[in-house]
Order: sequence, then structure tokens, then C-alpha cells
Amino acid sequence: METAEAASSLAGKHIVLGVTGGIAAYKAVEVVSRLRKKGAHVHVIMTRGAQNFVTELTFREMSDEPVITDMWAKVTHYHVEHIALAKLADVVLVAPATANFLAKAACGMADDMLTTTVLATKAPIFVAPAMNTAMYENAMTQENLERLRAHGFHVIEPASGQLACGTSGAGRLPEPVELVSVLEQFFDGGAQKNSADASACQKRDLVGRKVLVTAGGTHEPLDPVRYLGNRSTGKMGFAVAEAAAQRGADVVLVAGPVGLATPAGVRRVDVLTAQEMHDAVLREYADTDAVIKAAAVADYRPKERAGQKIKKKDGSLFLELVRNPDILKELGEKKKQQVLVGFAAETERVLEYAAGKLKKKNLDFIVANDVSRKDAGFSADTNCVTILGRDGSQTQPPLMSKRVLADVILDCVARALAAGRN
Ligand code: CTP
Repeated sequence: METAEAASSLAGKHIVLGVTGGIAAYKAVEVVSRLRKKGAHVHVIMTRGAQNFVTELTFREMSDEPVITDMWAKVTHYHVEHIALAKLADVVLVAPATANFLAKAACGMADDMLTTTVLATKAPIFVAPAMNTAMYENAMTQENLERLRAHGFHVIEPASGQLACGTSGAGRLPEPVELVSVLEQFFDGGAQKNSADASACQKRDLVGRKVLVTAGGTHEPLDPVRYLGNRSTGKMGFAVAEAAAQRGADVVLVAGPVGLATPAGVRRVDVLTAQEMHDAVLREYADTDAVIKAAAVADYRPKERAGQKIKKKDGSLFLELVRNPDILKELGEKKKQQVLVGFAAETERVLEYAAGKLKKKNLDFIVANDVSRKDAGFSADTNCVTILGRDGSQTQPPLMSKRVLADVILDCVARALAAGRN
């Protein structure tokens, strides 16, 4: 089963996956499956709590390796003592990591097989906290995370959204594809490793910077009940806003009509039409350091907006459309210190069209996106892009979650800001 993606940097790696007792434990099953498809050997250690959510048998079947559930059980598979897995590991990933596990790890406790392995290993350790928002935000949990970071642990920030406990906020385990992508990038060399570091070790390289992000589509009203719209869900822009806030930026998110929760620490301005987005963006622009324009803005709007619902008649109906302002082009014309990032959603001649827009709109980067692909379209959680730079650079990250890609884009932005290019 490992042949499909054998070129992955995870191929042949021994990954110890610690699963602790949170509702997100079920997602760890998919993590095992995805890691195996990349050619990795996965050794699962379950805490007692985890066994309340998923059975040992599930992980044994998925990983095709023995699963450790009890430090005191007779060792039948690993030749040696309790630290056999600690020695074998190329990397340890704890996902989900509960508040309880983080607290124990931060204190250097070793009262079960997982904490013992974590204490004994010399391999890099990634933890993906997942819990109720209040527990995650609790100062003690945050102190524990700080302490773990200080000791070299890589903390994979939780996602925001609806949680199993009925509340919403930060604390959701990132999607399995994202967790696997973080590990894969870690083992990749050069620039990609740096990108992984960005998401895994939470850089704070945008502190003191104002970042303006647009997201979602626009609605151009025809009458009180109808509009012209597009299929944008806002996922990419919201991921960029979340990532920028986590990297310390002062983030303003100008959002079209989408059904997504506002990421923590982000100031959100809701708009409906392209004209409203134009006005909101220009109000914020002067003191902005970087703009990431992920929104899918309608190029045209109906010339007339009927005051009453348009009634059907015999024959065809002709609508006259007029041009909306090209917001990004205007930003390019007014550009001073700002680093500008545009998106080009294309279905053919992707790089050629994107390069044209980069130049025409006076951008620093353009994220070229082939929206005809199933795994990279508007509603997908993953994206596959090429980032073209004004200086001729081309960054082509592998298929990855929009959240991880957000950090790759922000790496480009942070580098341009640090270089003071504008
Ligand atoms: N954009 C904008 N204002 C518009 C249209 C697009 O700011 N009225 C921004 C988008 O947010 C995106 C980029 O410009 O970052 C997309 O470039 P654009 O050339 O406008 O894309 P399309 O509208 O798809 O253009 P075309 O019809 O030429 O493919």
C-alpha cells in the first residue's frame, strides 16, 4: 500500500504517534492511514484516555504494527525495554494532545508509555493540542505550551471553529492532511522545511505589522431577492487571516458573505458587494504593511438594481452589466510601502495568465491557482498553487491544506517586509 506516494520525504520514516484522550482521537486514525500511504512506519502509543474513544484494534489494523496501551504489559514485540520506541522514532507526533498530556509533558512526568517515550526520545516532537476553547486559552495550558516550546517542542496550532462540546473557538485538531503535511515538510529540505517551521513552531515574525486580508466572494444585487455571485467559500482568506494573527500581525479581514467563524484576534469587516469591499479596503490601506487579496471579486454588476422583485414576462430577459472597480489594480497604483499579494484563479494557461496579472496590477506576489483541479478549487480544504514573485521567483509547494499554505504565503510576505522591498 505504500507505493502510491513513495517519493514522499516520509517514506521509510518511523513515526511514533501518541494518541491521547480527546474526542479528536478518531482523526488520528486517518493520520495513520495517510502516513502509511506516504510510506512511513507508524507506531501508535495510546493513553488510557484515548482507549475510551478509539480501540487499539483500529490502530493495529491501520498501522499494521503493534499498538502500545500499557507500560506495564509484557513486552512481546519490541525487543527491549520501555524506551525502544523512543530510540526508534524519527519523529514523535502527539495528536490530539490533551491539556492533561501537555501539563504532564511540560513537567517532565513519565507516568505512562507516551510521556515516558516523550521524555526519553531524542527525536523531534510535534504536539497538536485539541480541546475545549476555555481549556486551551487557560493561562496554565498556555504556560505549559510556552514551556514545551522553550524545550524545543513543535506546537501545531489548533484550528478555530465549531467544537464537539458545542462551543466555537480555537481548539480544534487540524485536519489529518494538514498534520501529515507538517511532518512531510519538516523532512523536506530548504525552503519547504522553513515553511513547515512556520506553521509548526509558530513564528512571531509579523508582530507590529498591519495585514489586510480579503476573503470570500461578492454578491451583486439584481433586485431585493436576487444577486449575481460566485462559488468562493472564503476558506483560503480566512486561513491567511488566522495564520497572520498567530504570527503576531494586526489583522483586518474584509469578508464577503461567507459562513465561517472569525479567527481569534482578527478584526473583521463584513461587506456584500465589490463596491463595498473597495471602500472598506481603501479605508484601511494607507497604514497597511501587506495586503493578501484572496477574495473573488465580481468584475461586473447589474447596471440597474430593481427596487422591487423582477417579475417574469414572456420571452428572454436581458441584463446590462457594468464594470466594478478592480480593487487590487487600484491598490497597485497607489502602492507605497505595502507588499501586495493577489490570487489568480484560472482554468487554463494558469502561469501565463497569473504572470500577466502580477505585472498589470503591480503586485509583489501572485498565487496562481488551477481551480479546475478537484483538490484545489473553491470549496476544497486543500490547495495546490504556484507563487510567482515580482523578482521572477517561483515557489511551488506540494498539495497541502489551505491553513498550511497560508503560512507559506506569509513566509513570502514576511521575507519581502524584512527586506523592505517597497
Ligand atoms: N480583484 C480585485 N477586484 C476586482 C477583481 C479582482 O481586487 N474587481 C483581485 C482578486 O481579489 C484577486 C485578483 O484581483 O486577488 C484576481 O485578478 P483578476 O484579474 O481580477 O481575476 P479575474 O477577475 O478572475 O480576471 P479575469 O477575468 O481576467 O480572469
